[in-house]
Amino acid sequence: MWDSLWLDARIATMVEGLGPYGLIDDAALATREGHIAWLGPARDLPGSPERRAREVHRLSNHCITPGLIDCHTHLVHGGNRAREFEMRLQGASYQELARAGGGILSTVRATREADETELYRDAVARLRALMAEGVTTLEVKSGYGLDRENEMKQLRVARRLGSDFRVTVTTTFLGAHALPPEFADDADGYVDAVAALWLPALAAQGLVDAVDAFCEGIGFSAAQTRRVFEAARELDLPVKLHADQLSDLGGAGLVAEFGGWSADHVEYSSEASIAAMAAAGTVAVLLPGAFYALRETRMPPIDAFRERGVAMAVATDLNPGTAPLLSLRLALNFACTLFRLTPIEALRGVTVNAARALGLADRGRLAVGQRADFAVWPLEQPAELAYWIGGGGPARVFAAGQERTGLGPPMRQ
Ligand code: NIG
Ligand code: FE
Repeated sequence: MWDSLWLDARIATMVEGLGPYGLIDDAALATREGHIAWLGPARDLPGSPERRAREVHRLSNHCITPGLIDCHTHLVHGGNRAREFEMRLQGASYQELARAGGGILSTVRATREADETELYRDAVARLRALMAEGVTTLEVKSGYGLDRENEMKQLRVARRLGSDFRVTVTTTFLGAHALPPEFADDADGYVDAVAALWLPALAAQGLVDAVDAFCEGIGFSAAQTRRVFEAARELDLPVKLHADQLSDLGGAGLVAEFGGWSADHVEYSSEASIAAMAAAGTVAVLLPGAFYALRETRMPPIDAFRERGVAMAVATDLNPGTAPLLSLRLALNFACTLFRLTPIEALRGVTVNAARALGLADRGRLAVGQRADFAVWPLEQPAELAYWIGGGGPARVFAAGQERTGLGPPMRQ
């Protein structure tokens, strides 16, 4: 006996080999204990629906997609940078603001000043915006504390969001995001603290699912990034990287060398790095919201990713500086309009490839045995998800087979 059965749906399974979107028309989907128990054309259903499932729902031919996955966010942070937005509009560059002590460091000050309750409250508002658009899994990074206690505070808030809401939150330690004032002239000393002291301590508390760094002229060198990755490898933690966003320091090749889950941004990645990503199965995470907000002009090497078979994901990069973007749907549209992804590639980017970028094998596709995370859209075709600019949320969302009704008050305060 199934727990629930959905009928009269067009299901974009995102399963390869089934044609565009893995689409099945007039499909049925059944769940049992939070997983998909049956999926296929309704005509192939064994036995009458009412006798097979405790509950039967009809969906008037709406589209079903996997629950959306936002695989790169900085959702938990203090304050905002609206003032810097104004300064950038008057001509200041992101790098100039960073070098003058603004940029990431201004959010570090605000995050250090905020207590855990304030950080949680602000993060909940942003989380609700993502969840309203059908996000059922997201990654949340630290990187605005830049000392042990404040990085821990950010990661604890991220964990709490995952336990309070019907959403999966994975955590990423991004200690090597910027150099805090305490280490102003000692980047190597800072990297030592991040790699040898804080990472093992935070990992021991179960707060770290993956490790990231910002490998960039205004961030950390490739050699420093390598030390962070070596520390992660000691602890058996997967790595990913803010790589080649504003210049080519070989970051995407470096993260591939460590068998990393993803290289993110990748506008300036070289042929050699792309070949290394292909060989390692490292996903290219495209962040068109940051590209848009910084008015960048250098496109990521999309054709080379296609030719080499590098999987591409799409994420919001939700952060207060380069991507105050509260909409994964808008990121889908940006990925098509700015980077010329096809709507199919864009939707793969927030489902099957985003799951890969988080090392999650149990979601991102709709197939028997997968988690029953899915969204029901009042749309005729899945391409509309990327086509509308904005466009709002799904009619219904299910996480592990349970309907997410409204966005709740959180399950506990
Ligand atoms: O992904 N590039 C580094 N990190 C963020 C920006 C963080 C910030 O400006 O606060 C990014 O773009
Ligand atoms: Fe980022």
